[in-house]
Amino acid sequence: MRRREALAKLTGREQYVDDLPLEGFLWGMTVRSPAPRGRVTAVRFGKDVDWSQFVVVDHRDIPGPNVVALIEEDQPVLAAGYVRHVHEPVLLVAHASREAARRAVRSIEVVVEAEPPALDFRVVALEDDVLVVKGSMQCPYYVLKALQHALARDETRVRVVQTPTGGGFGGKEEFPSHIALHAALLALKSGRPVKLIYDRGEDMAATTKRHPALVRHRTGLSRDGRLLAQDVEVVIDGGAYVTLSPVVLSRAIIHAAGPYACEHVRIQGRAMFTNAVPFGAFRGFGAPQTQFAGERHMDVVARTLAVDPVELRRVNLLKDGQTTATGQVIRDSTDRVAVMERALELSRYREKQGEHTAFNATHETLRRGMGLATFFHGAGFTGGGEVALKSRLRVAGRADGGVEVLSANIEMGQGTLTVFTELAAARLGLDPDDVTIAEADTSRVPNSGPTVASRTTMIVGGLVERAADDLRRRLGLDHSARGADVKQAIRRWHLEHPAEPLFGEAAYEKPPGIEWDDKSYRGDAYGAFAWAAYVAEVEVDLRTCATRVIDFTAVQEVGKVLNPTLARGQVQGGVVQGIGWALMEECTWQDGAMANNQLTNYLIPTSDDVPSIRVAFIENPYPHGGGGGAKGLGELPIDGPAPAIVNAVAAATGADPRTIPVTPERLMELMEIADFGLRNAD
Ligand code: MOS
Repeated sequence: MRRREALAKLTGREQYVDDLPLEGFLWGMTVRSPAPRGRVTAVRFGKDVDWSQFVVVDHRDIPGPNVVALIEEDQPVLAAGYVRHVHEPVLLVAHASREAARRAVRSIEVVVEAEPPALDFRVVALEDDVLVVKGSMQCPYYVLKALQHALARDETRVRVVQTPTGGGFGGKEEFPSHIALHAALLALKSGRPVKLIYDRGEDMAATTKRHPALVRHRTGLSRDGRLLAQDVEVVIDGGAYVTLSPVVLSRAIIHAAGPYACEHVRIQGRAMFTNAVPFGAFRGFGAPQTQFAGERHMDVVARTLAVDPVELRRVNLLKDGQTTATGQVIRDSTDRVAVMERALELSRYREKQGEHTAFNATHETLRRGMGLATFFHGAGFTGGGEVALKSRLRVAGRADGGVEVLSANIEMGQGTLTVFTELAAARLGLDPDDVTIAEADTSRVPNSGPTVASRTTMIVGGLVERAADDLRRRLGLDHSARGADVKQAIRRWHLEHPAEPLFGEAAYEKPPGIEWDDKSYRGDAYGAFAWAAYVAEVEVDLRTCATRVIDFTAVQEVGKVLNPTLARGQVQGGVVQGIGWALMEECTWQDGAMANNQLTNYLIPTSDDVPSIRVAFIENPYPHGGGGGAKGLGELPIDGPAPAIVNAVAAATGADPRTIPVTPERLMELMEIADFGLRNAD
């Protein structure tokens, strides 16, 4: 059979679309995008064309959805403000004259704010589409969450890598999400890597600081100095957005009553919205504020009742079987009075008091005094926080027989890398050189939770050990296998399964017997508390009202100490930071902005301000802590220095400071009120 349409085509009789007869018709034309990708910012119509003679259509003329329906509804009929390829239709023009229509189209300019196009298909589907953010931070998975949310990317298209971090102290707990998002937006729009580094002035002015707090105490006591009732009101400045304020407030109020037994406790806490730059996480997370107030108040109570501050504390410090303010029964067998006694002994508290009486009587312009603070700090997330976090961690077997710890917890000067290495090595009987710690890269490490809340060694350290156990189990080894046996089994496994990853895994499990009710705020607020007693010795110069800390003693019970040098360093650093907080560091505000956002007039301690610091640990292993008994340590040493120092200032001068920092200016006013010091010294 012959082709049916062959003769019509061969003879030219076929009527193709352009041959169709059409009465009174217009010629339609398409105006197209000049650029492959970008936002259409303007469409300019030529001035030499009489546009009243033309029909012009854009996306707003489409009655239904602006979609060319097919499989996916992604391609517009006419670009609506954004073009994704060159020559993409933007406008339609029609006129009776084909030539006039052509000229009109040529006179229209579509202005596109060009964005970097993806033009190489071999790259488009690969790593170019993964947004990588590297930065100094405490919580890579917090940053990942923020990036995924605001940039509408799933976890396969965004990756966060923590770079070596000199210090964090909570300042890199929640804030890095902002910097990461801002840098990411610039990089996405420019198509180029972007480095966003705050200089010190911007950092101090615009990033989070410790919540300013106002704490009021009313206390009822028996004649022998036992606490009968504590009524505490806590108000903190949250700043302009919620950020972490509810959680900071939570830790603040849970620690507000101090490490004391009291049957009747009322604590009310509020966080206030203001138009201040939002306040945020800072070492101690609310507890330093309320424990400063509480411990200062204990000395005010002692002075009011004319009892010895040491005896007041001795009578009231929690004993096993007694409860904290949330009803948590303490039964860790720590002797909290013994912790205090040790601090008194190491500081020569009693002898020094006698020496100071003599010193003060013979010096016209100098006054010395001793100050004590007894305090505590809960380790890990508050209440059900650790359960909600569901931390996971892996220990992988390397082809060379060594192991790699895969965790999202980071080193920020406090010793995570060292402690995790020690824990993994000890658990498997390996040499520390056989252990590496993976870079905290969210594309590689599981979410073992944030590096905050004094949780890393106690909670995540335990996961390192259990993941190491799991690795040994997966190798088919006995629980007692160690050292060369483990290395050999790892190497053999890799030879037999060349392409398969090898790792052990552990997930957080709530220790037995911990119950917390978030509604009533009753129960076990923390798995464990660390306990401490700090003593400060100060000298106040009555001519300048400047205070110098001349000796400091820090005694703490933190469960088992895993690395004495690192642990001591944490305490020493906390004390120095505490000296700054107690005596120097003060933000001055002007219309909600920090006015002294530079280190020329925002004073911090220098080496010259640091006294000898005696650090002692009392060990009472916590059964559920990493390394066979570690509790949290990181934040404890910022709780105690300020009240100990200010109590010492009060003892030295007779003044009654209730606001920190106790700057010379503030102390001078107080001493004038007390009618003490300068005038007497003249
Ligand atoms: Mo934080 S203040 O890093 O728990």
